[in-house]
Amino acid sequence: MSIIVAIDGPSGAGKGRLAQALCDKYDLAFLDTGLLFRATALKATLKGVAVDDDKALADVAKSLCDEDFEPINELRSEINGQVASKIAVLPKVRAALVSYMKKFAKTNGNKGDGAILDGRDIGTIICPEADVKFFITATPEERAKRRVNELQNRGIPVIFEEVLQEMTRRDRRDRERKDSPLVAASDAIVVDTSKMSIADVVDKAVKAVDKALACA
Ligand code: C5P
Repeated sequence: MSIIVAIDGPSGAGKGRLAQALCDKYDLAFLDTGLLFRATALKATLKGVAVDDDKALADVAKSLCDEDFEPINELRSEINGQVASKIAVLPKVRAALVSYMKKFAKTNGNKGDGAILDGRDIGTIICPEADVKFFITATPEERAKRRVNELQNRGIPVIFEEVLQEMTRRDRRDRERKDSPLVAASDAIVVDTSKMSIADVVDKAVKAVDKALACA
C-alpha cells in the first residue's frame, strides 16, 4: 500500500483512534509524532533540563532511543503533555525532531508500504505531499469530556474544569507558536467529530483513503 496519510488536529479530537483504525485496515506503518515531543519532554524533565534551554533540549531530542518511549503512562500524562507543548515552540527542538519524522515518512511512505503520521504539522510541514490529509477537530468541551473519560478509565481521578483549562492552554500554545503552528493544511479534509461516533469518523476517512488509492 503506497500511500502517506497525514492526520493533524488539537489534543483529544480523536486523531489517535482514527490513525489506529486506518493502520489496522490498510496495514500501514504508524508514527504518533506527539510521542517524540512527549519523550523529549519526559527525558528532559528527568535530567533537570529547563523548558527554555533550547540547545540542551535539542540535544535530548537528538538522543532519543527506543527506551525513551517507556513507561507509557508518564509519557501520556497531562503534565508531560504541557511540558511537551512548551518545548515544541522551540525551533531547535522542532528541527531535531523534524528530520526523524520526515525520514519515517520517506522510508515507509510512497516508496515503502505506506505510512500514517499524526500530529500538529504533518499536512503542512512534515508531509506537504501526503496523499490524504485529515484535520480532526471537536469542540473544546467535547474533547475535554473524552479526555476525562479516558483518564478515569485508567483509574486517574480528574476534574473536568481543570482538564478543559489545561487543554485550552495547550491548544492555544500549539496554534499560536511561530514555528509550525497547529493549522489545517489548505487541502486537508476537516472533520468535526463533536457529534460523530468513531465508526462514522472512520467510515468518512476510509472513503477518502479509498478514493486516493484509486487515483494513485
Ligand atoms: O499529540 P500529543 O498530545 O501527544 O502531543 C503533545 C504535544 O507535542 C502537543 O501539544 C504539541 O505541542 C507537540 N506536537 C507538535 N508537533 C507534532 C506533534 C506534537 O508540536 N507534530
